Amino acid sequence: MKALIHGVAVGYTDEGNGTPLVFIHAFPLSKAMWQPQVDALKDTYRVVTIDLGGHGESDIVLWHDSLDDFAKQVIHLLDHLGIAQAVFVGLSMGGYTLFSIYRNYSHRVKAMVLADTRAQADSEEGKAGRTSMAEVAFKDGASAIADIMLPKLLAPSTLEHRPELVEQVRQMILDTSTAGIVVDLVAMAARPDSTDLLSTITCPTLVIVGEDDQTTPVTQSKFIADRISGATLVTIAGAGHLSNLEQPDGFSHALESFLKNIEN
Ligand code: MLT
Repeated sequence: MKALIHGVAVGYTDEGNGTPLVFIHAFPLSKAMWQPQVDALKDTYRVVTIDLGGHGESDIVLWHDSLDDFAKQVIHLLDHLGIAQAVFVGLSMGGYTLFSIYRNYSHRVKAMVLADTRAQADSEEGKAGRTSMAEVAFKDGASAIADIMLPKLLAPSTLEHRPELVEQVRQMILDTSTAGIVVDLVAMAARPDSTDLLSTITCPTLVIVGEDDQTTPVTQSKFIADRISGATLVTIAGAGHLSNLEQPDGFSHALESFLKNIEN
């Protein structure tokens, strides 16, 4: 589905009824990464997924190059759908976007799930890495980015034994425009440190991480969970950075238990 919001086409899905759950994808993927969770949860909840600008079916707005712009885009979609408050699930860059949503629109957040993400800003070395990756994207396109990113996104065992999943993730990266990839890199490099935000978070929070996550290791999720009052940390065995795709049942089960708890 697509909506025209403030003159910009935004790709999204909206299925089911009940408490709204809003899923925000990782770099450089799309809403398609959430299909296992849509399938598992749409009979019980209203499940919304969104393509951030330049991903999937969403237009890119080149001068919207901050995580705050992504956050605004998510909130505009919720306004369009008439959703005042939701449970948000963000994985990695989706988690960075979620920090921005909480910082700017905490009244819209009923609860949140921070998956395979980190609170700290990029180091100087990390920022330089973003610049090099943007140069590769301009020069060699999304397929070169897929070659760089796949080993960062998936656990070694997934890369070795699950060729279909590897291809599915590669295709999602190939479907992302070069401009979209570059805008993400600029936005992530410029994002603020969210460490101080953590102790101000008062909504129910679940932190999830794949035990083999190489990009945002378990220590990063522990850092987040230790600083948010009442947060729960769930580690998913047999998963890397894309824990929701590598172990969809384990991820969805952790989500369902969390959702049941907050509704009781
Ligand atoms: C992601 O999965 O969204 C990215 O790997 C996050 C990052 O590069 O910091």
